[in-house]
Amino acid sequence: MNEEIMMENTLNEKTMNEKTMNEKTMNENTANDPYRPVFHFSVKKGWMNDPNGLIYYKGRYHMFYQHNPYAPVWGPMHWGHATSRDLIHWKHEPIALLPDQEYEAHKEVGGCFSGSAIEKDGKMYLIYTGCVQDRKPSQCQAVAVSEDGYSFGKYINNPVIAASPAECTEEFRDPKIWEKDGVYYCVIGTQSEDLGRVLLYRSYDIYQWEYVGIVAKSNGQQGDMWECPDLCTFENHDVLIYSPIHAAEGDTRYFSGKINYTTGELGILWDKILDYGPNFYAPQSFTDKTGRRILFGWMRCWEEHMPCEPYGWAGQLTLPRRLWADSCGILHQEPVKELEALRRNETGYELSGIKDMQLQAIESSCYELELTAEGEEINSFTLFLRCSENRSEQTVLHFDTKQNLVSVDRTNAGEGEKGCFDAPFLEEDNKSYRLQLFVDHNSLELFTSQNTVSMCFYLWADPRSTGIYYESDSGQNCSITAKIWELADKENIS
Ligand code: FRU
Repeated sequence: MNEEIMMENTLNEKTMNEKTMNEKTMNENTANDPYRPVFHFSVKKGWMNDPNGLIYYKGRYHMFYQHNPYAPVWGPMHWGHATSRDLIHWKHEPIALLPDQEYEAHKEVGGCFSGSAIEKDGKMYLIYTGCVQDRKPSQCQAVAVSEDGYSFGKYINNPVIAASPAECTEEFRDPKIWEKDGVYYCVIGTQSEDLGRVLLYRSYDIYQWEYVGIVAKSNGQQGDMWECPDLCTFENHDVLIYSPIHAAEGDTRYFSGKINYTTGELGILWDKILDYGPNFYAPQSFTDKTGRRILFGWMRCWEEHMPCEPYGWAGQLTLPRRLWADSCGILHQEPVKELEALRRNETGYELSGIKDMQLQAIESSCYELELTAEGEEINSFTLFLRCSENRSEQTVLHFDTKQNLVSVDRTNAGEGEKGCFDAPFLEEDNKSYRLQLFVDHNSLELFTSQNTVSMCFYLWADPRSTGIYYESDSGQNCSITAKIWELADKENIS
């Protein structure tokens, strides 16, 4: 049967008008918004959570995301859409998927939940979860197809996976698809007996799927439900990233090892935390046009006070991070090199032997800061970021080379959530350290420890709090330097 006949085009006239209206109000509502990030992707209006369907397709990067277009809070899930040529400058596109089918349409708890994208025979296929709170079963997997990457038809025989295996609950979502040797696979998050698990499915055409087996399951400490699984295949290792609910430690974790495609099982070498900050969740990765593995996370804000809400929006992504596994299978992540094109007005600081100093290169809260330290007597140093003039507002980043701990304290960071978070780190090399920070109006992302440690935070400081101070108890026998670049506004590309 011809595929076009099997498709239902769900974008009828009413929904097209709705989309156009949304686009207009989005623009009007975002003027003079002090919290709007400059180099992080954020939703124009309404709410966003997980990145979905990341793909390089017909000359552009496409990013979809969990989206409630009606209010800056979670609600009926649509797939928002944006495109880019460089992963940094994004163009907002009309909504790609609306929850308008029996297996996904619900006013409150439901919609087109998270999923992923793949290209097959020149077409873009999306596989995602349809969710309707009071349907039986409430969650199933569905497919939508596009010839151009912009308008999608839903497969008329959806759902393609109607229910989870009998031993699992109805929590069954977030398919992440890939292809290997002409066969399609996807991992799906679920739970059984209050323990999170990830399942592997196989297909030859993306429409008919067979269950292969369990990829991994919680040992009791790793959460009672696993969301947004992502299997990244590197040359010698397979890495399963997942977002556990109620894990003892870490909101996003990974296992690395080797997957058995016959049984589905991942032979696990490492079990680690992917990001140590409080605002990193549901990441998704994909392979870019040059073969790099790129990962975006959602800057999580479930039930957090979001000072941007009065401006009509809530939700943004982390920076795009290049991801790779080293020869032992440990993951490394670095902000993509494309960000360097935004650097302006470099200022350098020689900090060796300095006890305290104000680093005030720029009157901006939109910058990159790189600090390198080398030698025997570094001890510890502290950076005070987003400081108000009298320092009553500040975010404190402490880097301790005696305890190998980096910590970020948001007790006096301004509005929003508080708390102190830390992460263990390694030396870069013998007695040398590197810390890379990105501050973007309402956020802080940091990378250190040979790029094995990252931390992601919202910082809702007063827009006037731009001060940067440095303190250290280091001795004479070391060298410490810092560089700061202002990061320029991105242009709008079309
Ligand atoms: C993760 C998540 C997914 C789900 C989506 C719904 O943040 O809960 O498991 O598909 O969000 O918006």
